[in-house]
Amino acid sequence: MTWRWPQGLGLGVRYREAQFETWAQAAIPDIMAIEQLAYSHPWTAGNFQDSISSGYRCVRLCLQGETLGYHVAMRGPGEMHLLNLTVAPDHQRRGLGERLLGELIDHCKAEHLQTLWLEVRQSNQAAQALYAKAGFATVGQRKHYYPLDATRREDAVVMKLELQATQGEPA
Ligand SMILES: CC(C)(COP(=O)(O)OP(=O)(O)OC[C@H]1O[C@@H](n2cnc3c(N)ncnc32)[C@H](O)[C@@H]1OP(=O)(O)O)[C@@H](O)C(=O)NCCC(=O)NCCS
Repeated sequence: MTWRWPQGLGLGVRYREAQFETWAQAAIPDIMAIEQLAYSHPWTAGNFQDSISSGYRCVRLCLQGETLGYHVAMRGPGEMHLLNLTVAPDHQRRGLGERLLGELIDHCKAEHLQTLWLEVRQSNQAAQALYAKAGFATVGQRKHYYPLDATRREDAVVMKLELQATQGEPA
């Protein structure tokens, strides 16, 4: 019988080679292709353009020229606000969301920021599980924050991570 490299292990080894890089205007078409697949209500190219123009932190995870996922975060005094975190659908459930979030958390700690904030759709259980696993706490709700369909809107769950509380722990 021929021995086969276990598929999960092979993928894990391959993903380990993926690298973080900051991205700007030239990456918007790649980012938009993923954004449109990943969301029912995707950001527009203009939203990403505005993020770049405003100096928000834009980071992506790339493997051999392919974008696997990305995040966009806005810095404020002593804090960071995560605005967008996305993993390409073909690459989800392989630890890349956790890795992208970890990159941002490490950056915030290195910058001695105190809090990382985010909003997430109430229905987005996958993302809420990811954030809870990373140590975020639910601290509130924003009513009717997101569009849902032609007539309805959906609440946002507000979550925060206290970075000082996790200072000194292993990354
Ligand atoms: C949410 C998202 C970023 C997660 O990325 P991912 O690479 O698939 O997640 P990971 O493989 O790193 O999973 C890490 C943890 O997140 C949680 N999680 C991720 N996907 C999940 C799912 N479909 N159902 C339940 N929990 C899930 C689990 O706790 C998981 O830990 P585990 O593997 O030990 O169970 C990804 O699903 C995504 O891009 N979704 C569409 C865009 C989106 O909703 N972004 C968030 C907006 S606030």
